[in-house]
Amino acid sequence: MAASQRAVYWLGKDTLRVSAALFAENRRRLLAALKNADGVQAKAVVVLQGGEQKQRYCTDTEPVFRQESFFHWAFGVTESDCYGAVMVPSGRSLLFVPKLPDSYATWMGEIHPREHFKDKYDVDEVHYTCDIAEVLAKLNPSHLLTLRGVNTDSGSTCREASFEGISQFTVNNTILHPVIVECRLLKTDMELEVLRYTNRISSEAHKEVMRAVRPGHKEYEMESLFQHYCYSRGGMRNVSYTCICGSGHNASVLHYGHTGAPNDKTINDGDMCLFDMGGEYYCYSSDITCSFPANGKFTADQKAIYEAVLKSSRAVFNAIKPGVKWTDMHRLADRVHLEELVKVGLLKGDVDEMMKVHLGSVFMPHGLGHLLGIDVHDVGGYPEGIERIQESGLRSLRMGRLVQERMVLTVEPGIYFINHLLDQALANPAQSCFLVNDVLARFRGFGGVRIEDDIAVTSTGMELLTCVPRTVQEIEDFMANRDANAKAF
Ligand code: GLY
Ligand code: MN
Ligand code: MN
Repeated sequence: MAASQRAVYWLGKDTLRVSAALFAENRRRLLAALKNADGVQAKAVVVLQGGEQKQRYCTDTEPVFRQESFFHWAFGVTESDCYGAVMVPSGRSLLFVPKLPDSYATWMGEIHPREHFKDKYDVDEVHYTCDIAEVLAKLNPSHLLTLRGVNTDSGSTCREASFEGISQFTVNNTILHPVIVECRLLKTDMELEVLRYTNRISSEAHKEVMRAVRPGHKEYEMESLFQHYCYSRGGMRNVSYTCICGSGHNASVLHYGHTGAPNDKTINDGDMCLFDMGGEYYCYSSDITCSFPANGKFTADQKAIYEAVLKSSRAVFNAIKPGVKWTDMHRLADRVHLEELVKVGLLKGDVDEMMKVHLGSVFMPHGLGHLLGIDVHDVGGYPEGIERIQESGLRSLRMGRLVQERMVLTVEPGIYFINHLLDQALANPAQSCFLVNDVLARFRGFGGVRIEDDIAVTSTGMELLTCVPRTVQEIEDFMANRDANAKAF
Protein backbone atom coordinates (compact mmCIF):
# COMPACT_ATOMS: atom_id res chain seq x y z
CA MET A 1 0.00 0.00 0.00
CA ALA A 2 1.30 3.49 -0.80
CA ALA A 3 2.20 5.64 2.19
CA SER A 4 -0.43 8.17 1.20
CA GLN A 5 -3.11 5.50 1.59
CA ARG A 6 -1.78 4.29 4.94
CA ALA A 7 -1.43 7.79 6.34
CA VAL A 8 -4.81 8.14 7.94
CA TYR A 9 -5.81 9.34 11.40
CA TRP A 10 -8.56 7.10 12.70
CA LEU A 11 -9.67 6.12 16.18
CA GLY A 12 -11.61 3.07 15.06
CA LYS A 13 -15.30 2.25 15.26
CA ASP A 14 -17.43 5.01 13.77
CA THR A 15 -14.87 7.78 14.14
CA LEU A 16 -13.77 9.78 11.14
CA ARG A 17 -10.85 8.78 8.94
CA VAL A 18 -8.73 11.81 8.13
CA SER A 19 -6.11 11.41 5.44
CA ALA A 20 -2.68 13.03 5.69
CA ALA A 21 -3.57 14.44 2.28
CA LEU A 22 -5.45 17.15 4.21
CA PHE A 23 -2.15 18.51 5.51
CA ALA A 24 -0.32 18.02 2.20
CA GLU A 25 -2.99 20.20 0.63
CA ASN A 26 -2.55 22.80 3.38
CA ARG A 27 1.19 22.88 2.67
CA ARG A 28 0.55 23.23 -1.05
CA ARG A 29 -1.74 26.17 -0.38
CA LEU A 30 0.88 27.74 1.85
CA LEU A 31 3.52 27.43 -0.86
CA ALA A 32 1.25 28.91 -3.48
CA ALA A 33 0.53 31.86 -1.18
CA LEU A 34 4.20 32.34 -0.33
CA LYS A 35 5.06 32.55 -4.03
CA ASN A 36 3.02 35.74 -4.19
CA ALA A 37 4.29 37.17 -0.91
CA ASP A 38 6.79 40.02 -0.81
CA GLY A 39 10.27 39.25 0.43
CA VAL A 40 10.30 35.48 -0.09
CA GLN A 41 13.59 34.53 -1.73
CA ALA A 42 14.25 31.47 -3.83
CA LYS A 43 15.38 28.64 -1.56
CA ALA A 44 13.46 29.84 1.48
CA VAL A 45 12.55 27.20 4.04
CA VAL A 46 9.51 27.45 6.30
CA VAL A 47 10.26 26.18 9.80
CA LEU A 48 7.50 25.51 12.31
CA GLN A 49 7.93 24.28 15.85
CA GLY A 50 5.31 21.93 17.27
CA GLY A 51 3.95 22.00 20.79
CA GLU A 52 5.94 20.85 23.79
CA GLN A 53 4.83 18.27 26.30
CA LYS A 54 4.68 20.14 29.62
CA GLN A 55 4.63 18.83 33.14
CA ARG A 56 2.27 20.04 35.81
CA TYR A 57 4.13 22.68 37.85
CA CYS A 58 7.16 21.04 39.46
CA THR A 59 5.76 17.52 39.24
CA ASP A 60 6.28 14.75 36.72
CA THR A 61 2.55 14.60 35.88
CA GLU A 62 1.95 15.16 32.17
CA PRO A 63 -1.32 16.85 31.13
CA VAL A 64 -2.84 15.45 27.92
CA PHE A 65 -0.85 16.97 25.08
CA ARG A 66 -2.60 19.05 22.42
CA GLN A 67 -0.68 20.01 19.30
CA GLU A 68 0.15 23.65 18.51
CA SER A 69 -2.41 24.80 15.96
CA PHE A 70 -0.25 26.16 13.12
CA PHE A 71 1.96 23.08 13.26
CA HIS A 72 -1.10 20.85 13.25
CA TRP A 73 -2.52 22.70 10.24
CA ALA A 74 0.67 22.04 8.28
CA PHE A 75 1.61 18.52 9.40
CA GLY A 76 -1.21 16.81 11.36
CA VAL A 77 1.37 15.34 13.72
CA THR A 78 0.02 14.20 17.08
CA GLU A 79 3.36 13.77 18.90
CA SER A 80 4.92 16.52 20.98
CA ASP A 81 8.31 18.20 20.65
CA CYS A 82 8.64 18.02 16.86
CA TYR A 83 9.56 20.52 14.15
CA GLY A 84 8.49 20.67 10.54
CA ALA A 85 10.05 22.33 7.52
CA VAL A 86 8.78 22.99 4.02
CA MET A 87 11.14 23.91 1.21
CA VAL A 88 10.19 26.75 -1.10
CA PRO A 89 9.50 26.39 -3.98
CA SER A 90 9.65 22.58 -4.25
CA GLY A 91 7.30 21.89 -1.36
CA ARG A 92 9.50 19.10 -0.04
CA SER A 93 8.41 18.40 3.52
CA LEU A 94 10.70 17.51 6.40
CA LEU A 95 9.59 16.34 9.80
CA PHE A 96 11.91 16.38 12.82
CA VAL A 97 11.08 14.06 15.70
CA PRO A 98 12.86 13.70 19.04
CA LYS A 99 15.54 11.04 19.32
CA LEU A 100 14.24 9.14 22.31
CA PRO A 101 16.42 7.64 25.05
CA ASP A 102 16.45 3.88 25.66
CA SER A 103 14.53 4.42 28.88
CA TYR A 104 11.59 5.52 26.73
CA ALA A 105 11.21 1.93 25.58
CA THR A 106 10.93 0.83 29.20
CA TRP A 107 8.45 3.40 30.40
CA MET A 108 6.60 4.73 27.36
CA GLY A 109 6.65 2.01 24.73
CA GLU A 110 8.28 1.18 21.47
CA ILE A 111 10.74 3.63 19.96
CA HIS A 112 9.73 3.91 16.36
CA PRO A 113 12.26 4.33 13.57
CA ARG A 114 12.10 7.48 11.46
CA GLU A 115 10.50 5.50 8.65
CA HIS A 116 7.46 4.98 10.86
CA PHE A 117 6.77 8.73 10.96
CA LYS A 118 7.40 9.08 7.25
CA ASP A 119 4.64 6.57 6.59
CA LYS A 120 2.37 7.83 9.34
CA TYR A 121 2.39 11.44 8.12
CA ASP A 122 3.32 10.98 4.48
CA VAL A 123 6.16 13.52 4.55
CA ASP A 124 9.20 13.43 2.28
CA GLU A 125 11.89 13.12 4.95
CA VAL A 126 12.10 12.48 8.67
CA HIS A 127 15.10 13.47 10.77
CA TYR A 128 15.86 13.86 14.45
CA THR A 129 15.36 17.23 16.11
CA CYS A 130 18.92 17.10 17.43
CA ASP A 131 20.11 17.22 13.80
CA ILE A 132 17.86 20.07 12.66
CA ALA A 133 20.59 22.71 12.22
CA GLU A 134 22.81 20.32 10.28
CA VAL A 135 19.97 19.08 8.03
CA LEU A 136 18.72 22.59 7.28
CA ALA A 137 22.26 23.86 6.61
CA LYS A 138 22.69 21.18 3.93
CA LEU A 139 19.66 22.64 2.15
CA ASN A 140 21.65 25.86 1.87
CA PRO A 141 18.55 28.00 2.38
CA SER A 142 18.46 31.67 1.39
CA HIS A 143 16.55 32.28 4.62
CA LEU A 144 14.34 30.50 7.13
CA LEU A 145 10.75 31.71 7.47
CA THR A 146 9.63 31.40 11.07
CA LEU A 147 6.27 32.21 12.57
CA ARG A 148 5.81 35.25 14.73
CA GLY A 149 2.58 37.21 15.03
CA VAL A 150 -0.15 38.28 17.39
CA ASN A 151 -3.35 36.31 17.85
CA THR A 152 -6.07 38.96 17.58
CA ASP A 153 -8.36 37.16 20.03
CA SER A 154 -5.94 36.53 22.86
CA GLY A 155 -3.44 39.29 22.17
CA SER A 156 -0.70 36.70 22.68
CA THR A 157 2.23 36.24 20.34
CA CYS A 158 2.70 32.79 18.87
CA ARG A 159 5.87 30.93 19.65
CA GLU A 160 8.50 31.27 16.98
CA ALA A 161 10.58 28.24 16.03
CA SER A 162 13.90 28.20 17.76
CA PHE A 163 16.62 25.56 18.02
CA GLU A 164 20.29 25.31 18.83
CA GLY A 165 22.26 26.56 15.87
CA ILE A 166 19.53 28.77 14.37
CA SER A 167 21.87 31.78 14.66
CA GLN A 168 23.90 30.51 11.66
CA PHE A 169 20.87 31.14 9.38
CA THR A 170 19.26 34.27 8.03
CA VAL A 171 15.83 34.26 9.61
CA ASN A 172 12.75 36.22 8.61
CA ASN A 173 9.94 36.10 11.17
CA THR A 174 7.51 38.60 9.66
CA ILE A 175 6.55 37.15 6.26
CA LEU A 176 5.03 33.83 7.28
CA HIS A 177 2.40 34.72 9.88
CA PRO A 178 0.00 36.82 7.78
CA VAL A 179 0.33 34.37 4.87
CA ILE A 180 -0.41 31.23 6.87
CA VAL A 181 -3.24 33.00 8.71
CA GLU A 182 -4.88 33.82 5.35
CA CYS A 183 -4.60 30.15 4.42
CA ARG A 184 -6.20 29.00 7.68
CA LEU A 185 -9.02 31.51 7.18
CA LEU A 186 -10.60 29.50 4.34
CA LYS A 187 -11.29 25.82 4.81
CA THR A 188 -10.59 23.13 2.23
CA ASP A 189 -13.10 20.39 1.40
CA MET A 190 -11.14 17.96 3.56
CA GLU A 191 -11.15 20.36 6.50
CA LEU A 192 -14.88 20.97 6.06
CA GLU A 193 -15.45 17.24 6.30
CA VAL A 194 -13.71 17.15 9.69
CA LEU A 195 -15.68 20.17 10.90
CA ARG A 196 -18.93 18.50 9.80
CA TYR A 197 -17.91 15.52 11.88
CA THR A 198 -17.03 17.55 15.00
CA ASN A 199 -20.40 19.24 14.68
CA ARG A 200 -22.30 16.01 14.21
CA ILE A 201 -20.79 14.35 17.26
CA SER A 202 -21.09 17.48 19.42
CA SER A 203 -24.70 17.96 18.32
CA GLU A 204 -25.46 14.37 19.33
CA ALA A 205 -23.70 14.95 22.65
CA HIS A 206 -25.85 18.04 23.31
CA LYS A 207 -28.93 15.95 22.61
CA GLU A 208 -27.65 13.31 25.02
CA VAL A 209 -27.42 16.02 27.68
CA MET A 210 -30.93 17.28 26.90
CA ARG A 211 -32.22 13.73 27.33
CA ALA A 212 -30.51 13.33 30.69
CA VAL A 213 -30.96 16.69 32.36
CA ARG A 214 -33.39 16.89 35.26
CA PRO A 215 -33.87 19.46 38.02
CA GLY A 216 -31.70 18.28 40.90
CA HIS A 217 -28.71 17.44 38.73
CA LYS A 218 -25.50 19.36 39.13
CA GLU A 219 -24.33 21.41 36.15
CA TYR A 220 -21.04 19.49 36.15
CA GLU A 221 -22.87 16.22 35.62
CA MET A 222 -24.00 17.60 32.28
CA GLU A 223 -20.45 18.70 31.46
CA SER A 224 -19.26 15.21 32.28
CA LEU A 225 -21.94 13.54 30.17
CA PHE A 226 -21.13 15.77 27.20
CA GLN A 227 -17.44 14.93 27.42
CA HIS A 228 -18.15 11.25 27.87
CA TYR A 229 -20.31 11.14 24.76
CA CYS A 230 -17.79 13.08 22.68
CA TYR A 231 -14.91 10.87 23.70
CA SER A 232 -16.61 7.47 23.79
CA ARG A 233 -18.63 7.93 20.60
CA GLY A 234 -16.54 10.40 18.70
CA GLY A 235 -12.95 9.75 19.74
CA MET A 236 -12.72 13.32 20.99
CA ARG A 237 -10.27 13.35 23.84
CA ASN A 238 -10.38 17.12 24.14
CA VAL A 239 -13.13 19.65 24.11
CA SER A 240 -12.52 22.83 22.15
CA TYR A 241 -12.87 25.06 25.23
CA THR A 242 -13.95 24.83 28.86
CA CYS A 243 -17.56 23.69 29.02
CA ILE A 244 -20.04 26.40 29.97
CA CYS A 245 -22.99 24.76 31.75
CA GLY A 246 -24.94 27.65 33.23
CA SER A 247 -28.37 27.20 34.72
CA GLY A 248 -30.71 29.86 36.05
CA HIS A 249 -28.89 33.11 36.75
CA ASN A 250 -25.57 31.50 35.73
CA ALA A 251 -26.76 31.49 32.13
CA SER A 252 -26.05 35.22 32.13
CA VAL A 253 -22.37 34.67 33.02
CA LEU A 254 -20.81 34.70 29.58
CA HIS A 255 -17.70 32.67 30.41
CA TYR A 256 -19.23 30.61 33.21
CA GLY A 257 -17.47 27.32 33.94
CA HIS A 258 -14.08 28.79 34.85
CA THR A 259 -12.39 27.89 38.12
CA GLY A 260 -14.19 30.62 40.03
CA ALA A 261 -17.58 29.35 38.81
CA PRO A 262 -16.95 25.72 37.91
CA ASN A 263 -20.38 24.48 36.76
CA ASP A 264 -21.19 23.55 40.36
CA LYS A 265 -24.73 24.83 40.89
CA THR A 266 -27.69 22.49 41.26
CA ILE A 267 -30.04 22.82 38.31
CA ASN A 268 -33.47 23.86 39.55
CA ASP A 269 -36.98 23.35 38.27
CA GLY A 270 -37.85 26.48 36.28
CA ASP A 271 -34.23 27.26 35.34
CA MET A 272 -33.17 27.98 31.78
CA CYS A 273 -30.04 26.03 30.93
CA LEU A 274 -27.41 27.57 28.68
CA PHE A 275 -24.94 24.86 27.72
CA ASP A 276 -22.07 25.95 25.48
CA MET A 277 -19.89 22.94 24.69
CA GLY A 278 -17.97 21.63 21.71
CA GLY A 279 -15.85 18.56 21.13
CA GLU A 280 -12.58 18.56 19.21
CA TYR A 281 -11.41 15.80 16.86
CA TYR A 282 -7.84 15.68 15.58
CA CYS A 283 -7.52 19.32 16.70
CA TYR A 284 -10.55 20.53 14.72
CA SER A 285 -13.16 22.34 16.84
CA SER A 286 -16.85 22.80 17.26
CA ASP A 287 -18.66 25.40 19.33
CA ILE A 288 -22.35 24.88 20.02
CA THR A 289 -24.75 26.41 22.53
CA CYS A 290 -28.15 24.97 23.38
CA SER A 291 -30.52 26.92 25.62
CA PHE A 292 -33.59 25.18 26.99
CA PRO A 293 -35.69 24.90 30.15
CA ALA A 294 -34.37 22.31 32.59
CA ASN A 295 -37.84 20.85 33.04
CA GLY A 296 -38.51 20.65 29.31
CA LYS A 297 -41.33 23.22 29.18
CA PHE A 298 -40.83 26.94 28.43
CA THR A 299 -42.58 29.57 30.55
CA ALA A 300 -44.10 32.48 28.64
CA ASP A 301 -41.11 34.70 29.47
CA GLN A 302 -38.60 32.00 28.53
CA LYS A 303 -40.39 31.41 25.24
CA ALA A 304 -40.44 35.12 24.44
CA ILE A 305 -36.72 35.61 25.01
CA TYR A 306 -35.82 32.35 23.30
CA GLU A 307 -37.84 33.19 20.22
CA ALA A 308 -36.33 36.67 20.05
CA VAL A 309 -32.87 35.12 19.89
CA LEU A 310 -33.95 32.45 17.41
CA LYS A 311 -35.38 35.18 15.20
CA SER A 312 -32.09 37.05 15.10
CA SER A 313 -30.16 33.85 14.43
CA ARG A 314 -32.40 33.01 11.50
CA ALA A 315 -32.32 36.59 10.18
CA VAL A 316 -28.53 36.29 10.04
CA PHE A 317 -28.78 32.87 8.37
CA ASN A 318 -30.98 34.39 5.68
CA ALA A 319 -28.68 37.34 5.09
CA ILE A 320 -25.32 35.64 5.19
CA LYS A 321 -23.42 35.13 1.94
CA PRO A 322 -20.05 36.06 0.51
CA GLY A 323 -19.51 39.80 0.45
CA VAL A 324 -21.66 40.81 3.41
CA LYS A 325 -19.97 42.62 6.28
CA TRP A 326 -19.81 40.55 9.45
CA THR A 327 -20.21 43.78 11.42
CA ASP A 328 -23.54 44.30 9.60
CA MET A 329 -24.62 40.80 10.64
CA HIS A 330 -23.87 41.73 14.25
CA ARG A 331 -25.92 44.91 13.89
CA LEU A 332 -28.75 42.94 12.27
CA ALA A 333 -28.91 40.62 15.28
CA ASP A 334 -28.93 43.62 17.64
CA ARG A 335 -31.77 45.22 15.69
CA VAL A 336 -33.91 42.07 15.75
CA HIS A 337 -33.32 41.71 19.50
CA LEU A 338 -34.38 45.30 20.15
CA GLU A 339 -37.50 44.96 17.99
CA GLU A 340 -38.45 41.77 19.80
CA LEU A 341 -37.73 43.23 23.26
CA VAL A 342 -40.13 46.08 22.44
CA LYS A 343 -42.79 43.47 21.67
CA VAL A 344 -42.05 41.67 24.95
CA GLY A 345 -42.59 44.99 26.75
CA LEU A 346 -39.05 45.27 28.12
CA LEU A 347 -38.22 48.24 25.91
CA LYS A 348 -40.17 51.21 24.62
CA GLY A 349 -39.39 53.74 21.90
CA ASP A 350 -37.79 53.91 18.49
CA VAL A 351 -35.42 51.09 17.57
CA ASP A 352 -33.29 53.35 15.32
CA GLU A 353 -32.70 55.64 18.29
CA MET A 354 -31.85 52.61 20.45
CA MET A 355 -29.29 51.49 17.85
CA LYS A 356 -27.63 54.92 18.03
CA VAL A 357 -26.93 54.44 21.76
CA HIS A 358 -25.88 50.79 21.27
CA LEU A 359 -28.67 49.50 23.49
CA GLY A 360 -28.32 46.06 21.92
CA SER A 361 -25.00 45.57 23.70
CA VAL A 362 -26.72 45.83 27.10
CA PHE A 363 -28.40 42.53 26.25
CA MET A 364 -25.71 41.03 23.96
CA PRO A 365 -22.33 42.37 25.09
CA HIS A 366 -20.39 39.80 23.07
CA GLY A 367 -19.90 39.58 19.32
CA LEU A 368 -22.29 37.74 17.02
CA GLY A 369 -19.76 35.04 16.22
CA HIS A 370 -16.26 34.16 15.18
CA LEU A 371 -14.14 32.07 12.86
CA LEU A 372 -13.90 28.41 13.77
CA GLY A 373 -11.31 25.84 12.75
CA ILE A 374 -8.34 24.32 14.50
CA ASP A 375 -8.86 26.93 17.20
CA VAL A 376 -12.30 27.61 18.53
CA HIS A 377 -11.65 31.31 18.04
CA ASP A 378 -9.79 30.67 14.83
CA VAL A 379 -7.12 32.98 13.52
CA GLY A 380 -7.60 35.73 10.97
CA GLY A 381 -10.38 37.89 12.38
CA TYR A 382 -8.45 41.16 12.09
CA PRO A 383 -5.67 41.20 9.50
CA GLU A 384 -3.49 44.27 9.25
CA GLY A 385 -5.57 47.16 7.96
CA ILE A 386 -8.86 46.04 9.50
CA GLU A 387 -9.45 47.59 12.90
CA ARG A 388 -12.06 46.72 15.50
CA ILE A 389 -14.99 49.11 15.63
CA GLN A 390 -14.71 50.67 19.06
CA GLU A 391 -18.41 50.64 19.90
CA SER A 392 -19.99 48.79 22.73
CA GLY A 393 -20.77 45.28 21.49
CA LEU A 394 -18.93 45.52 18.18
CA ARG A 395 -15.64 45.95 19.98
CA SER A 396 -16.07 42.35 21.18
CA LEU A 397 -16.68 41.02 17.67
CA ARG A 398 -13.85 38.63 16.86
CA MET A 399 -13.95 39.15 13.09
CA GLY A 400 -14.02 42.41 11.19
CA ARG A 401 -13.87 41.07 7.64
CA LEU A 402 -16.30 40.61 4.84
CA VAL A 403 -17.82 37.14 4.83
CA GLN A 404 -16.10 34.82 2.31
CA GLU A 405 -16.90 31.45 0.84
CA ARG A 406 -15.19 28.64 2.82
CA MET A 407 -15.11 30.56 6.06
CA VAL A 408 -16.49 28.56 8.95
CA LEU A 409 -18.17 30.79 11.50
CA THR A 410 -20.26 30.58 14.61
CA VAL A 411 -23.57 32.43 14.65
CA GLU A 412 -24.28 32.89 18.33
CA PRO A 413 -26.69 35.66 19.19
CA GLY A 414 -27.85 35.89 22.78
CA ILE A 415 -29.97 37.94 25.14
CA TYR A 416 -28.80 38.04 28.75
CA PHE A 417 -29.96 39.81 31.87
CA ILE A 418 -26.66 40.83 33.44
CA ASN A 419 -27.35 42.91 36.53
CA HIS A 420 -24.18 44.95 36.22
CA LEU A 421 -25.01 45.99 32.62
CA LEU A 422 -28.68 46.62 33.40
CA ASP A 423 -27.67 48.87 36.30
CA GLN A 424 -25.22 50.75 34.09
CA ALA A 425 -27.92 51.25 31.44
CA LEU A 426 -30.41 52.44 34.03
CA ALA A 427 -27.87 54.98 35.25
CA ASN A 428 -27.32 56.27 31.71
CA PRO A 429 -30.15 58.61 30.67
CA ALA A 430 -29.40 58.00 26.97
CA GLN A 431 -30.28 54.34 27.46
CA SER A 432 -32.58 54.26 30.49
CA CYS A 433 -35.28 56.18 28.59
CA PHE A 434 -35.90 53.02 26.54
CA LEU A 435 -36.02 50.59 29.47
CA VAL A 436 -39.30 49.55 31.09
CA ASN A 437 -37.93 49.03 34.56
CA ASP A 438 -40.84 47.24 36.21
CA VAL A 439 -40.88 44.62 33.43
CA LEU A 440 -37.10 44.44 33.52
CA ALA A 441 -37.24 43.71 37.26
CA ARG A 442 -39.12 40.51 36.46
CA PHE A 443 -36.22 39.29 34.31
CA ARG A 444 -33.46 39.82 36.87
CA GLY A 445 -32.23 36.34 37.71
CA PHE A 446 -33.63 34.94 34.45
CA GLY A 447 -30.12 34.27 33.18
CA GLY A 448 -29.99 34.34 29.43
CA VAL A 449 -30.41 32.59 26.14
CA ARG A 450 -27.73 31.95 23.53
CA ILE A 451 -28.29 29.98 20.36
CA GLU A 452 -24.96 29.06 18.82
CA ASP A 453 -24.63 27.23 15.52
CA ASP A 454 -21.61 26.59 13.34
CA ILE A 455 -21.91 27.36 9.65
CA ALA A 456 -19.79 27.06 6.52
CA VAL A 457 -20.14 29.88 4.02
CA THR A 458 -20.98 28.66 0.50
CA SER A 459 -20.93 30.54 -2.81
CA THR A 460 -24.57 31.55 -2.40
CA GLY A 461 -25.23 31.43 1.32
CA MET A 462 -24.36 28.98 4.05
CA GLU A 463 -24.38 25.37 5.13
CA LEU A 464 -25.58 24.69 8.66
CA LEU A 465 -23.21 22.24 10.35
CA THR A 466 -24.97 22.00 13.72
CA CYS A 467 -28.00 19.77 14.13
CA VAL A 468 -29.88 20.08 17.43
CA PRO A 469 -33.51 20.83 18.32
CA ARG A 470 -33.87 24.58 17.84
CA THR A 471 -37.46 25.82 17.81
CA VAL A 472 -39.46 25.94 21.04
CA GLN A 473 -41.67 23.20 19.64
CA GLU A 474 -38.72 21.02 18.64
CA ILE A 475 -37.13 21.39 22.08
CA GLU A 476 -40.35 20.71 23.98
CA ASP A 477 -41.16 17.71 21.77
CA PHE A 478 -37.64 16.36 22.11
CA MET A 479 -37.63 16.73 25.87
CA ALA A 480 -41.16 15.36 26.26
CA ASN A 481 -40.15 12.25 24.34
CA ARG A 482 -36.66 12.02 25.67
CA ASP A 483 -37.01 8.54 27.10
CA ALA A 484 -38.27 7.33 23.74
CA ASN A 485 -35.40 9.28 22.13
CA ALA A 486 -32.83 7.73 24.43
CA LYS A 487 -30.15 5.65 22.78
CA ALA A 488 -28.71 2.62 24.48
CA PHE A 489 -25.47 3.96 25.83
N1 GLY B 1 -17.56 28.97 23.68
C1 GLY B 1 -16.84 30.10 23.34
C2 GLY B 1 -17.57 30.93 22.39
O1 GLY B 1 -18.76 30.73 22.20
O2 GLY B 1 -17.02 31.77 21.74
MN1 MN C 1 -19.66 28.79 22.37
MN1 MN D 1 -18.50 30.75 20.01
